[in-house]
Amino acid sequence: MWDALRAHHEAVKDRPILSLFDASRAKEFSVRLGDMLLDYSKTNLDDEGRRLLIDLLEQAEVARKRDAMFAGKPINETEGRAVLHTALRNLDGGPVLVDGQDVMPGVHRTLERMRVFASAVRDGREAGQGGRYTDVVNIGIGGSDLGPKMGAIALAPYADGPRIHFVSNVDPADIADVLRACDPTTTLVIVASKTFTTQETMANAQTAKAWMSETVRDPAAQFAALSTASDKTAAFGIAPDRVFGFEDWVGGRYSMWGPIGLSLMIAIGPEAFRAFLRGGQAMDLHFRTADWHENMPALLALVGIWHNQICGHATRAVLPYDNRLMRLPAYLQQLEMESNGKGVTMDGKPLQIESGPIVWGEPGTNGQHAFYQLIHQGTRVVPCEFLVAARGHEDDLHHQHQLLVANALAQSEALMRGRTMEEAREIMAKRGLSGEELERQAAHRVFPGSRPSTTLAYPQLDPFSLGQIVALYEHRVFVEGAILGINSYDQWGVELGKELAGALAPMVQGQQGTESKDASTAGLVAFLRSHGA
Ligand code: F6P
Repeated sequence: MWDALRAHHEAVKDRPILSLFDASRAKEFSVRLGDMLLDYSKTNLDDEGRRLLIDLLEQAEVARKRDAMFAGKPINETEGRAVLHTALRNLDGGPVLVDGQDVMPGVHRTLERMRVFASAVRDGREAGQGGRYTDVVNIGIGGSDLGPKMGAIALAPYADGPRIHFVSNVDPADIADVLRACDPTTTLVIVASKTFTTQETMANAQTAKAWMSETVRDPAAQFAALSTASDKTAAFGIAPDRVFGFEDWVGGRYSMWGPIGLSLMIAIGPEAFRAFLRGGQAMDLHFRTADWHENMPALLALVGIWHNQICGHATRAVLPYDNRLMRLPAYLQQLEMESNGKGVTMDGKPLQIESGPIVWGEPGTNGQHAFYQLIHQGTRVVPCEFLVAARGHEDDLHHQHQLLVANALAQSEALMRGRTMEEAREIMAKRGLSGEELERQAAHRVFPGSRPSTTLAYPQLDPFSLGQIVALYEHRVFVEGAILGINSYDQWGVELGKELAGALAPMVQGQQGTESKDASTAGLVAFLRSHGA
């Protein structure tokens, strides 16, 4: 099937995307879910390409793998775990069995504990030594930071609780800048770590504890923990009733739906958080039941496979024309690259095709004034994924939102349409140029066009649609990983750096020599130490 797809690509690759448009293309290469629309017509995919991709998906038994995931089978084979973040938003669904045990009662219990705690923090029944909490500091990194932080920014218009801050980096600058703005007597610190061993999080948690101890008599009473490791949260001194646990079948980068989302719940309130879960649940239902031709996550994945593994475009730009989605690209970098950046298949054999793409991006219109030059005229093709809401939250500034929408649509149109040499010559002639100078100047104004993009459009960025968007990308990652035959749910590639950092720390601190290190690393340690490290 891969060969058939490559042959098809070879046959169509020089065809202008614009030439594919007839009366029905925009409709036939779009998919709707309720009020959400994914338009993938501005790609070089045609009926035959899509058919081959769906055959590929069927050959990879994606339906069987999907059902195994939802059924709690241990599809994370290298860690022997189920993958059940979907259970965290299974609000109205039936039982979900792991090893014959229904996990749903536990999920509901934890969600209810989160609701009670978040409500108490918001209305002041749960307070600090100095009174009602004014600030909440979430200390966590990776999946214990990116999701709630992305969500808190995205849903800022719904935030009516205390101020929420996020500290992730081991760089002391991060925590210092946050704590400087907080009063320890009215600050709640949430230590978010699935394992409760992550170096950065533990170092920051200790720093926060020391900072609070200077002023607050019982600092532990102003801490809460989100973790699977109740023994370690207890050893840190956090009472069990302030610990919100979850199971190992929730992967870090898939965890914002449960306890890791507590800071987001405190910010926007339990009801809005529930709407976020409902959005995710709606996407799950769609993913499980819609025909592949109508299945948004599957189609988004197939477009991704087409661009990356078939057309050979190594990167994918995520371009939200929705400023509050400014952290979505960073969130997706972890979701997609930690999940599908793997070089071996499930059975331990080298992957014979490219792994998942490099994901990057920035909100529009800012990116337009920075890197879009390369996207339009550089020699590499960057498939672009636009996201845009019909309405913002600033009703009195709707005219500005309309400009935002116009810019989003203009970019995808410009990428597809381009500008020919003929058109560029005409522009230059109108400016009074002729001869060699006209040719030279016109060449700089040519846009190759036929650059692919997709657009995800939705009415407004509210909790429900954010839930749909996050679950859409999660399932897209699942489908791409299933087609590649890799394990999207482990992350062994982050381990080596962690081990070496542990070994290097005493060398940087001057307690150990660097003889065992290569000359470059030893030289850098010496340089940094001689300058104060
Ligand atoms: O190092 C990678 C990683 O394990 C991520 O997968 C995870 O989201 C992050 O670190 C944080 O882990 P934890 O929540 O256990 O502190």
